[in-house]
Amino acid sequence: MSDLPDDLNPATLLVHGGTRRSQFEETSEAIYLTSGFVYGSAEAAEAAFVNDGSRFVYSRFRNPTVAMFEDRLAQYEGYPRCFATASGMAAVHAAVFGLLKAGDRLVASRALFGSCLYIVSDLAKRFGIESVIIDGTKNEEWEKALSVPTNLVFLETPSNPCLEVVDLEHVVPLAHKAGAKVVVDNVFATPVLQKPKKYGVDVVVYSATKHIDGQGRCLGGAILCDDEVAATLAPFLRHTGPALSPFNAWTLLKGLETLELRVKAQSASALKVATFLEGHPAVERVLYAGLESHPQHALLKRQMKAGSNLICLHIKPVNGDAKQAAFTVLNNLRIAKISNNLGDSKTLATHPATTTHQRLSVEEKAILGIGPGTIRVSVGLEDADDIIVDFKRGLDMLVG
Ligand SMILES: Cc1ncc(COP(=O)(O)O)c(C=O)c1O
Repeated sequence: MSDLPDDLNPATLLVHGGTRRSQFEETSEAIYLTSGFVYGSAEAAEAAFVNDGSRFVYSRFRNPTVAMFEDRLAQYEGYPRCFATASGMAAVHAAVFGLLKAGDRLVASRALFGSCLYIVSDLAKRFGIESVIIDGTKNEEWEKALSVPTNLVFLETPSNPCLEVVDLEHVVPLAHKAGAKVVVDNVFATPVLQKPKKYGVDVVVYSATKHIDGQGRCLGGAILCDDEVAATLAPFLRHTGPALSPFNAWTLLKGLETLELRVKAQSASALKVATFLEGHPAVERVLYAGLESHPQHALLKRQMKAGSNLICLHIKPVNGDAKQAAFTVLNNLRIAKISNNLGDSKTLATHPATTTHQRLSVEEKAILGIGPGTIRVSVGLEDADDIIVDFKRGLDMLVG
């Protein structure tokens, strides 16, 4: 176990937190690529199953490399407990279904990543959970929805892809008053730029696939919570088995070491890119958390330390065709890649209407702010000036 001083700053915890060195005293953490563990005697095996769970017995329950990742992220976020999962969706599913039962009531904001919306609306209803979906940007909708007893609130802020923001300072106390636990999908904000714990959020979920890995290598997820929530979730996770592989946990552990550096650098570049895009005549509108033109800028400034690396831009139609205009921009990129992933060291751009949100109706897309000219950009670690030139190429073609 680690013998670190108690009062370390978060950036230091991202490098050293949770480290468990083996008898070989390695510098970089070991990968314990094992499904099981051995016991010196039958009595030791019996004791391992009776005891408090500190002994590793099976990697579906706990694994030393996975535990290092969990402890490091928990220390950084300031929650006592973290459960690592095989993907972000495994984390969202476990957080929602591990805490709810048939007959319970769930309130969620509508601007969610598509699979999260499926879980809190379609799937929840199939299992007898009342699901109320509201416009999360409107405090009065939260007030109304949370005026009756509720068991769980699920929200994402800022949202994927159009960066809608929920006022945590307003919503969390309302939810608690209604008897609900609050689960926040903090993927777009990243662990670096927004601290839901500060607002009393009970559970934070991550797709670690995104900024935490940050290099497009593996899937992973995480649930952060207090001991009370952990006691409810632990048997659900143990028996349903969405466990993270030790190899992926090691990759994510290494991702954590550079997380602050990457997110801060990407945010600074994204601000430059968003400022350029906002000034281009082929662009109708840019939504970026770090720009004053964002309709919820004052709230964003309170809630987030910087704008993050995600930009949502709307391209003007050319001859009435916004989709073709957006495709022209995408098809002329030479550095940025067309990809529906995000949070990578490489700049990635996607057309949500035809990819991530293809299954939604035109009306449903419009409610979320997704149109035929919408492009989501995840700014990477390249030089911002090169990214600007990359987008300018296609944009200039649209204005002749
Ligand atoms: C906001 C958000 N939440 C959850 C997920 C799901 O994560 P994963 O793909 O790791 O399952 C994603 C994936 O894009 C996401 O963007």
